[in-house]
Amino acid sequence: MIQFVIFLCVLVSANAFSKEVADLFMTKMDQVGEACIKETKASPDDIIELLNYKVPTTQEGKCMLFCINKAFNLQNDDGSANKDDIFKFVDRLSELHPHVHQQYRTIVEECLNNDSIKDEDPCVFAANFVRCCEEKLD
Ligand SMILES: *[C@@H]1O[C@H](CO)[C@@H](O)[C@H](O)[C@H]1NC(C)=O
Repeated sequence: MIQFVIFLCVLVSANAFSKEVADLFMTKMDQVGEACIKETKASPDDIIELLNYKVPTTQEGKCMLFCINKAFNLQNDDGSANKDDIFKFVDRLSELHPHVHQQYRTIVEECLNNDSIKDEDPCVFAANFVRCCEEKLD
């Protein structure tokens, strides 16, 4: 289930998405997850947190988000958000679930424009982004 965590705020709307979406990304996610655990040295506890759709509390957990986002081109190496690809991504996910599309797009847009979540540390920014989306979906 780790695949859902990556998609920025898909994290919090995982229930809105189906098996088709999971299948779409599953194969790549297995490889990426493994590589990112090695790179970030995330602990089993960090992974459990992510799998439970929690915003990571440790630096390693936050860096898992950044690492996965990078693998899917959602964040650039310097930590900035890759807006074009993020919206392409949102659109692709939404093809399968048109009813959530507009709300989702709006939330992503608002969080991308939110200066208060920006951070010099790309890992912290990745985690802040997820939290921002989560707050808006509540
Ligand atoms: C910006 O992000 C912060 C932290 O997540 C949040 O509290 C605030 O409501 C957001 N502001 C806007 C305009 O979305």
